[in-house]
Amino acid sequence: MSMQRPQPRPGVLAIDPYVPGKSSAPGVSRVFKLSSNETPLGPSPNAIAAYRAVADRLADYPDGAATALREAIGRAFGLDPDRIVCGAGSDDLLNLLADAYLRDGDEAIYTTHGFLVYPIATLGSGAKPIAAAEKNYTADVDAMLAALSERTKIVFLANPNNPTGTYVAFDEIKRLHCALPPHVLLVLDAAYAEYVRRNDYESGIELVATSDNVVMCRTFSKIHGLAALRLGWMYGPTHVVDAINRIRGPFNVNSAAMAAGIAAVADSAHIEAARAHNERWLAWLSDEIRKLGLVVTPSVANFVLIHFPEIKGRTAADADAFLSKRGLILRRVAAYHLPNALRMTVGTEEANRLVVEALAEFIGSTT
Ligand SMILES: Cc1ncc(COP(=O)(O)O)c(C=O)c1O
Repeated sequence: MSMQRPQPRPGVLAIDPYVPGKSSAPGVSRVFKLSSNETPLGPSPNAIAAYRAVADRLADYPDGAATALREAIGRAFGLDPDRIVCGAGSDDLLNLLADAYLRDGDEAIYTTHGFLVYPIATLGSGAKPIAAAEKNYTADVDAMLAALSERTKIVFLANPNNPTGTYVAFDEIKRLHCALPPHVLLVLDAAYAEYVRRNDYESGIELVATSDNVVMCRTFSKIHGLAALRLGWMYGPTHVVDAINRIRGPFNVNSAAMAAGIAAVADSAHIEAARAHNERWLAWLSDEIRKLGLVVTPSVANFVLIHFPEIKGRTAADADAFLSKRGLILRRVAAYHLPNALRMTVGTEEANRLVVEALAEFIGSTT
């Protein structure tokens, strides 16, 4: 009887739905949400003003081509706006890429602790996600190449990766790209690129500009502080841009997001302030948490992955409960095959200090 009703593709029901970071703690009135890698500085004041101004035009459809936003991004990054597509968050674009380039029986490679939207988008498109092992919580190009098969159509790589915070140097990205067959699409997801302060890092722009099978995805949800508006963009070869433009929703980006995005991308002082804040507190948090005897994976992004001992009373779950009671909300990452770690977003000075104090108390209380 059940076959009589509409059936989704088999892969759809194999998906474990994405569970976002918690935003509240029962019984706690003052909460510090450090679970979704949002910026503690909030958006540019210019972006907030631009968003508010859209209130007078809510009856009008947005510009379906996002022309002004693509031009603003093009100006900020020195890119051809015709090779940019905007989306309702970069999630939208990752799903559109999977939709356009994967079919039943195909495979898409990602890495063991890679961003969860990749296997979700892959399964949703009827294809099979193949997880390549990482080394030291870092994507390993050799393992990714070993996972290639005749069925591979996409390789997804978050650089830096969420939730590990690690990155792959540009030389290694080039080595990966060189070894891929030309029909395989390399998707470089650079959601945290603005935070990276490493000379050997490149977000993907150079590789997209010089090849026919690389796409870079970016987001306004992180350093620009516009996660609520759902805004992302991709830069790719003309033929990929053309394919995505054919299948995306005709008005997939709303007017408020576009207005705020145009203002945000032009506010370099605000971006620089967010980078400087992150640089200072990322280093401080990593050091202070290590001093407590916990292992912190070296991060170049706006969050840290903290590993806990597998000892009753001291596990990540115990720490999560301890911190939550104090209104400090970190992210459990068991779904990323990291059952004994928590991911913490770099927060305000107050939040960062409170977490370190609470962790010290947690460690002290269990020794
Ligand atoms: C690696 C990575 N890519 C993409 C996204 C999605 O961003 P957006 O809010 O633009 O959909 C995130 C958000 O957590 C992320 O960590």
